[in-house]
Amino acid sequence: MEKKILITGGAGFIGSHLVDRLVKDGNSVRILDNLEPQVHNGKTPEYLNPKAEFIDGDIRNPDDLKASIEDIDIIFHEAAAVGVGQSMYEIQKYVDVNTYGTAKLLEILVNEEHDVKKLIVASSMSIYGEGAYECDDCGIVYPKLRTIEQFRSRDWDIKCPNCGKNVKAIPTPEEKPLYPTSIYAITKRDQEEMCLVTGQAYGIPTVALRYFNVYGPRQSLSNPYTGVAAIFSSRIKNNNPPIIFEDGLQSRDFVNVDDIVEANLLVMKKNSADYNAFNVGTGNPANILEIAEILSKLYGKDIKPDIVNKYRMGDIRHCYADISKIRKLGFEPKVRFKDGMRKLVEWGRIQEARDLSEKATQELVERNLVER
Ligand code: UD1
Repeated sequence: MEKKILITGGAGFIGSHLVDRLVKDGNSVRILDNLEPQVHNGKTPEYLNPKAEFIDGDIRNPDDLKASIEDIDIIFHEAAAVGVGQSMYEIQKYVDVNTYGTAKLLEILVNEEHDVKKLIVASSMSIYGEGAYECDDCGIVYPKLRTIEQFRSRDWDIKCPNCGKNVKAIPTPEEKPLYPTSIYAITKRDQEEMCLVTGQAYGIPTVALRYFNVYGPRQSLSNPYTGVAAIFSSRIKNNNPPIIFEDGLQSRDFVNVDDIVEANLLVMKKNSADYNAFNVGTGNPANILEIAEILSKLYGKDIKPDIVNKYRMGDIRHCYADISKIRKLGFEPKVRFKDGMRKLVEWGRIQEARDLSEKATQELVERNLVER
């Protein structure tokens, strides 16, 4: 049955893919998006779905929110400021857009008349901090962030918090304690917890999806504050070597945006998902060096990455998803890593990509957030 759906951040990378799919499935879709200049270069993206209604507005503005929510059955809340490093010096902006914007949305849902029957909020693996690990002697452990002293000693590997021995990364389940290590991650935890608590209190079915490292077409290639796959694409396209922090063996769970869309549709349909948080990843780790190598190869360029052996403040070493909880709902990641990267590159080839990453890194260096 056709539903009336609001997607906040529907002009962004993940939101726009969700818009396309929900429109294709015959729903009536509305977008609320402020076309953030850092992401969109001051232009309306050409991929913006003409069959969706577009409200050019801000998540922090109550009038824009009220107009957006009118007659809506389901909300996907994807709007957020997304630069981890940048959140460490534009602290107020990140709290304002992510935490306060979500607070405003919830206040309207609890104080105004509306038809909203479900809220799905985009959360993030960044709320975990380090992933889960196993120690040969102590079993499963949840280490905190590495200390500056450890970074300086260039010993990148995670140690057991009990006995100090090196530990091995294992899949991270939802129950792992949350140790957010950036302002961005704190605001993502805020978004998740505020939505779940308010949804529960007022009986508005709410689901939080903890996205792992999402990649795919439409990831902004000129936004130097975005994820590593987009940054490396832009570097390689401009014939610059990807800059690799630490030794390149740190790993993440790279999940394709099409799989993220599937997870959203699934939790929209399943009542058994309500009031829960779910990991959305592939369950398979890939290291950063592999990402640089596969992207150079797919772009057909012989560019060797520059492994700088420096640390970026707040970076974790490993985190990949335990997806058994969302699997029980029926989720299965479908896009194979190589196919997904190929699609990213096919799209990347025809995009304009200004490589602004050096300037962005310099901003972090000046603030001692990346080592000099
Ligand atoms: C990313 C996203 C975050 C999202 C999370 C889960 C960004 C900035 N971060 O965090 O919004 O919530 O995934 O989806 O979009 N690296 C390099 N060179 C670079 C850039 C990064 O070596 O030029 C390394 C980093 O040191 C890190 C790894 O690549 O070890 C991943 O970095 P990044 O893509 O920023 O992702 P996360 O910090 O995992």
